[in-house]
Amino acid sequence: MFKPYLVNFDTRQLPVETYEYVIIGGGIAGLYTACKVAREGGQVLVLTKHTLEDTSTDKAQGGIAAALGQSDSPELHFKDTIFAGAGLCDPKAVEILVNEGVSRVKELIEWGAQFDYDEGELALTREGAHSQRRILHAAGDATGAEIQRALAYQANQIPNLKIYENYFVVDLLVADDICYGVLAWDNVNQCFKVFYGRVVVLATGGTGQVYEHNTNPEIATGDGIAMAYRAGAEVMDMEFIQFHPTVLCLPGAPSFLISEAVRGEGARLRNCYGEQFMPCYHQLAELAPRDIVVQSMLKEMVRTGSKNVFLDLSPLPAEVIQQRFPNITRTCATYGLDITKDPIPVAPAAHYMMGGVKTNLHGETNIKGLYACGEVACQGVHGANRLASNSLLDGLVFGFRIVKESMRFLTSYVPSSVEFVCNYLKPPEEIKINGLTRELRAVMNKCAGPVRSCQRLTGALSFFENQADLFLSEAKNIAEMELRNMLLVGQLICEAALMRTESRGAHYREDHPAASERWVKHIILRL
Ligand code: SIN
Repeated sequence: MFKPYLVNFDTRQLPVETYEYVIIGGGIAGLYTACKVAREGGQVLVLTKHTLEDTSTDKAQGGIAAALGQSDSPELHFKDTIFAGAGLCDPKAVEILVNEGVSRVKELIEWGAQFDYDEGELALTREGAHSQRRILHAAGDATGAEIQRALAYQANQIPNLKIYENYFVVDLLVADDICYGVLAWDNVNQCFKVFYGRVVVLATGGTGQVYEHNTNPEIATGDGIAMAYRAGAEVMDMEFIQFHPTVLCLPGAPSFLISEAVRGEGARLRNCYGEQFMPCYHQLAELAPRDIVVQSMLKEMVRTGSKNVFLDLSPLPAEVIQQRFPNITRTCATYGLDITKDPIPVAPAAHYMMGGVKTNLHGETNIKGLYACGEVACQGVHGANRLASNSLLDGLVFGFRIVKESMRFLTSYVPSSVEFVCNYLKPPEEIKINGLTRELRAVMNKCAGPVRSCQRLTGALSFFENQADLFLSEAKNIAEMELRNMLLVGQLICEAALMRTESRGAHYREDHPAASERWVKHIILRL
């Protein structure tokens, strides 16, 4: 049903630019990789869909995990990551993450990222399933924005690193399982362009926008996974979507994330009767792994007939709340909540894609010259449930590994010139883009949310089958391309979720509520 491309084009008719590296995405994974390669002398182009501020990295609140505390060690970080991952983490990938992560975070500090300090020492907080205080944060709860700022500053100092903002990458140019570059839409000049690269790095982030309720920026429409899958890349673990437990749930307010660090500092979850319920569900109470907190909240909501529970910050002094969580304080205040006094109504929402484009431990995909890192990639480091604050770290660690590996690849590989043509798509169809997008998101929320069943997933798959014809015709603008990408990604999530007849980590099937030994394996999908 899916075709390799979303539009008709002929590379011989289009403006062309050629680089050694074309990196798609300007969040932590893309920008860090770009800076690292460019510092080694590589000619690099970074393409971003909107601006450098429109990334999941920029929105990240809680922080970045690294074993830097006095009583901490990479071994303890390893144990916590494996425990949270519910039996599906690749131990080799985790070992790399926790060991190499320490140097990568130190490097980020050397590059100017200003994390918070407490009496001259890095201030470290806790989040769910961490046995230690090991999460660095910046400006209280604006860690991602500070990392983004530091990396953008670095990137702007390097002459051989170019950044083109407002370029929507439509498709990868792949022939005989070799990636030669990308076809992109220049949204300022309203034209297609071709960027050839001997190395193409996907760092396009997540897929949260396929869900009605999600914490992701608007750009997170799964473009990277969709274009890679169309081009023949393998994708893995697509059924594992992490739902964040504490997302603001107030009529008229956006799905704004209330960082897990708030619970790390002592906030409690309470039901509509004001009762703290998490100790009844897990010994770690509010700091249980994220998937367990989500399922416990949902049970409590059903038990009490409520649409949300409450996050109570009253155990924390008001000045600590304001100083530690200024962004959350401010945002909640605009919706009439004084979080030093008022409990925050919260419910789970889609937050992070554990699966993605399958790579090895060096970021290589099954397509030569195509690499992936950050949220779009899946090398198994997060298993079935990512440990909080491991995602920014993952972007750095596996970005670094791509640099090392791809430089070896560059010296061993002589590119040939290849032309690409697509002329078989039918003229654009009239589609009701907003209606169909809403429908897709509602289907995903209902059928592929935190509680799934064979019946609902089968229903979702018939919805996707009904949209199949759309892929035979050209997309006529970015919104239509994004919609096609979201439909494809939604379908992959539902296919994998239907196949996995057990419950594990973030994937809960009410018709198969237990984990099964038989399913200690990954689902890999390929066109
Ligand atoms: C948060 O601040 O709760 C988000 C951290 C994460 O997703 O790792």
